[in-house]
Amino acid sequence: MDIFTAIYERHSIGKVKPDPLPRELIEKLLSAAAQAPNHFKIRPWRFVVLTGKGREGLGNAMAASFKAKFPDIAAEAFEKERQKPLRAPLVIAVAVDKPTEPKMDEVENISAAAAACQNILLAATALDLGAVWRTGDTARDPEIKKFLGFAPDQHLIGFLYIGYIESPSPVPERPSFADRTVWID
Ligand SMILES: Cc1cc2nc3c(=O)[nH]c(=O)nc-3n(C[C@H](O)[C@H](O)[C@H](O)COP(=O)(O)O)c2cc1C
Repeated sequence: MDIFTAIYERHSIGKVKPDPLPRELIEKLLSAAAQAPNHFKIRPWRFVVLTGKGREGLGNAMAASFKAKFPDIAAEAFEKERQKPLRAPLVIAVAVDKPTEPKMDEVENISAAAAACQNILLAATALDLGAVWRTGDTARDPEIKKFLGFAPDQHLIGFLYIGYIESPSPVPERPSFADRTVWID
């Protein structure tokens, strides 16, 4: 697929088939991520790939955390939270390394990891997969970070939910760049 087609066609697709994705395909997505620009070539991104029962562990951690915050939640709400990572056969959690040297910068590291996320989304589009970048309170929760093997102060910038498209959805209209752009000639 042409790069511009992938950029324009990419849109959030939350509803995907439950069919598992072959490892080769997942590695293609991760390899696309690793092509992102990153200052000082430090590759500040970290990926945790959750498939199959691995997603259940995340769901359990999410539900337990939800319950700890809201002890009175109904059983259905607890179960709904537990099921969330099962919405797609593949969930890639993306986190960012903290700067370890004075020359490194937190914003730069986050920027590089976000570029890696976008590479994954564009690659998924080119491979006819549906994908959505999710965050929410879960992404800021130290207990969830711990489950994934990240430090509490490490930014967890997204959960990329990916699977085969169930039914095509239209690309949303996007506003022009014009009102966000100043030209200095
Ligand atoms: C950092 C970030 C966090 C996001 N978090 C969520 C989320 O928690 N839930 C969700 O449904 N979409 C989430 N999205 C997707 C956006 O809502 C979506 O990209 C936006 O509505 C534009 O739609 P499009 O992706 O179809 O172009 C997130 C996107 C980004 C970049």
